Amino acid sequence: MSDKIIIFDTTLRDGEQSPGASMTKDEKVRIARQLERLKVDVIEAGFAASSEGDFNAISAVAAAVKDSIVCSLARANDKDITRAADALKPANAKRIHAFLATSPLHMAVKLRMSPEEVLEQAKRSIRFARNLASDIEFSAEDGYRSELDFLCRVVEGVINEGATTINIPDTVGYAIPELYGDFIKALRTRVPNSDKAVWSVHCHNDLGMAVANSLAGVKIGGARQIECTINGLGERAGNTALEEIVMSLRTRKDYFDMVCGIDATQIVQASRLVSHITGFVVQPNKAVVGANAFAHTSGIHQDGILKARETYEIMRAEDVGWAANKIVLGKLSGRNAFKQRLQELGISLESEAELNDAFIRFKALADQKSEIFDEDIIAIMSASAAAEGGEYYRFLSMSQHSETGERPKSRITFLVGDQEVTSEAEGNGPVDASLNAIEEKVKSGAEQLLYSVNAITSGTQSQGEVTVRLAKGGRIVNGVGTDPDIIAASAKAYLAALNKLHDPSHIKMNAQMTP
Ligand code: KIV
Ligand code: ZN
Repeated sequence: MSDKIIIFDTTLRDGEQSPGASMTKDEKVRIARQLERLKVDVIEAGFAASSEGDFNAISAVAAAVKDSIVCSLARANDKDITRAADALKPANAKRIHAFLATSPLHMAVKLRMSPEEVLEQAKRSIRFARNLASDIEFSAEDGYRSELDFLCRVVEGVINEGATTINIPDTVGYAIPELYGDFIKALRTRVPNSDKAVWSVHCHNDLGMAVANSLAGVKIGGARQIECTINGLGERAGNTALEEIVMSLRTRKDYFDMVCGIDATQIVQASRLVSHITGFVVQPNKAVVGANAFAHTSGIHQDGILKARETYEIMRAEDVGWAANKIVLGKLSGRNAFKQRLQELGISLESEAELNDAFIRFKALADQKSEIFDEDIIAIMSASAAAEGGEYYRFLSMSQHSETGERPKSRITFLVGDQEVTSEAEGNGPVDASLNAIEEKVKSGAEQLLYSVNAITSGTQSQGEVTVRLAKGGRIVNGVGTDPDIIAASAKAYLAALNKLHDPSHIKMNAQMTP
């Protein structure tokens, strides 16, 4: 059996199902390019049948990515599978991923189908998919809560029809490592044609065991593909975190004795990009990519580290792409230095016009803030990409007044389409006043679910990165804004969220919530 672990990244599909994490086509392409630099084997770019917007995003990712296999999810029916195949047409290498629930509960309540009907539909769908692609994955949704004998019949049937990867999700995060590993092993042992497919694990983190379960699926069960997301992004408690899987396999190679092709030095960059685009902040104590993951604050630890780093460090920060917060550019840096740093960060620009726009933003920021870090550059590039996407609402300028004992006031000017509007309002604090001023004109009526501020580098010189989560008509969107002035960052974040509510390509359906 091969010792190679296939890393299947589903940040752009299962990660995106996290309420508010929906991404635009351009955002998906930016993340996909970073996933390619990370050298993930398979990029699940979306669920083509969910919306026109997601179909186009998958096609754009398929056209942009050259080295990784690009995949689309599909329900196990002809219509969805055809949509997936069409969206994947531009790909160098493509995979269709069809899924159908196999647990007694899901079959009875969600699908309202008998086990025999499910078995037949699973086989029929793979037979159909095999005419459109040679690389076919079948997922038994809620597989871990399925009856072993029935699941064996389904898996044997779909492998006979041509499925090349068999994925056994723990859809609801119910598994325990040893039991999940044993379950995969039992399936592989009992299914007569199990050696004709690659076995895959896909775990959710509801009990905080997604990474442990996935690794047990590999070690005990013999799976050779792990499905995961950057930062463990995903609905509820999230998915298996890619960075934790990769560093576990590397750091404990003595135990796992497996290899994966990931370039770990791209991990931190990928983590920052996903966090910045989705507005899901990484907790400081998060393994591998949290700000404190390599910070040794206690005196004893520091002393030990100075003598020999292995005393307290099992991984090296630089191996996953952490560089000490280096000042990379400043006010006097020219266009060439800026361009070179973009290249070093792996950010490719399509045109000179795009570079000019980004450079103007860089100069404006350097006027406000003398030291520019990599994180600032990533934020500048996100703002440029959003502006190119033709934002409907766009921040122009603001002023605000707050004084102890007085109610803060804010005046803000922004674009609505191509019309410039100015609005004033009061609020409980300066942020509240600014968002009230915007709402006064836009009248979105959206409910605010979350407001969070995060410093993107250390110190009060840092830019503030604000996330605003809004809900309206059953939809949830996140908007992210950055600026050295956190009131301006808040206004930008609010306008970014309104842009997403305004853009129909953000209306997507969640694959598993549909029959
Ligand atoms: O969790 C799950 O069951 C899934 C499948 C659609 C693969 O995401
Ligand atoms: Zn899932």
